[in-house]
Amino acid sequence: ATAEKGGYEHFMLKEIHEQPKAIRDTLAGRIKDGLVDLSQEISLSAEELKRFDKIHFVACGTAYHAGLIGKSVVEKLARIPVEVDVASEYRYRDPIITPSTLVVVVSQSGETADTLAALREAQKAGAQVLGITNVVGSSVAREADEVLMTWAGPEIAVASTKAYTTQLIAIYLFGLYLARILETRSESELAEATEALLKLPKQAETLLEDPSAIRRFAGDIAQHEDLFFIGRGLDHAVVMEGSLKLKEISYIHSDAYAAGELKHGTLALIEEGIPVIALATQKAVYDKMVSNIIEVKARGAHVLGLGLEGDDELGKSVDEVITIPETLPLLTPVLSVIPLQLLAYYTSTARGLNVDKPRNLAKSVTVE
Ligand code: G6P
Repeated sequence: ATAEKGGYEHFMLKEIHEQPKAIRDTLAGRIKDGLVDLSQEISLSAEELKRFDKIHFVACGTAYHAGLIGKSVVEKLARIPVEVDVASEYRYRDPIITPSTLVVVVSQSGETADTLAALREAQKAGAQVLGITNVVGSSVAREADEVLMTWAGPEIAVASTKAYTTQLIAIYLFGLYLARILETRSESELAEATEALLKLPKQAETLLEDPSAIRRFAGDIAQHEDLFFIGRGLDHAVVMEGSLKLKEISYIHSDAYAAGELKHGTLALIEEGIPVIALATQKAVYDKMVSNIIEVKARGAHVLGLGLEGDDELGKSVDEVITIPETLPLLTPVLSVIPLQLLAYYTSTARGLNVDKPRNLAKSVTVE
């Protein structure tokens, strides 16, 4: 029945297209007079927020990838050291948790067993836990000391899309709020970032208008069994999510590499015709990224470059280009992940696979 899928063939495609609204809903009511204000939702006082000397992001799967972005965002905005762990490892590595640690657990369902166990462990060690979750009344929502909801609405497809982008939004909101309280960024910088945040729903809409180039590339990679994603900085975290998405629903093996690390091993795997998806949205490392692209091109890779609108250079070093609307470097993941979600989707359908229910995977894993 396509009716329950809002006219879309699969829940995943519907949910990809719901992202502009999900982002808008997650921003709603959290920005006042041009600045982020979470004081209605987060009960920690300014004094208490100032006491945290480190932050741990703990999560599984796609939510872990949101945590990787969280590290860059919070460190950059609030200048507090951040670690990121997969929940199934966290408890067993004897992490240093103290009462001045803030543990942020990220979970769409709020019911993932590993994540819940990490939450409880952190509380036992005296840490404060902030839960970022999409389900009101879920275990994470009930047990965390502080909760920041993502308002993505129900996510049915096993491969997470709108939950991830709204987790990023919640992380930006938290980072900007923390920076405001800690005064680690000037008010004008915060206002500029907030304004850019508010533009994201419209930009995501634009991005979804014409998937034809991605669809073409998907038809091509559907013929392969191995490929690579590369990126630097935040683009590295985003390609990890893009690679996961593709593996989950197309069963094509891919590796997501920090592009500067290629020559330390993985470059050996690049051979004639292998598809490489290269993200180049981060201005600070743009030239380095282009050199890395040239390295794989020289070994015969077929490269899809993903860059910012108005970048006329990228096309010279790759085989195909897709672009995302321009935003602040810190915010690009919200937009750059969307073409990667579509790429995974169209590759899966090109292979005739069960997009919404991939083999061996569950939407929410409630056993450890
Ligand atoms: C499962 C799902 C993933 C998801 C992960 C964490 O493995 O298949 O898509 O990212 O759980 O789920 P959560 O609900 O905690 O975000």
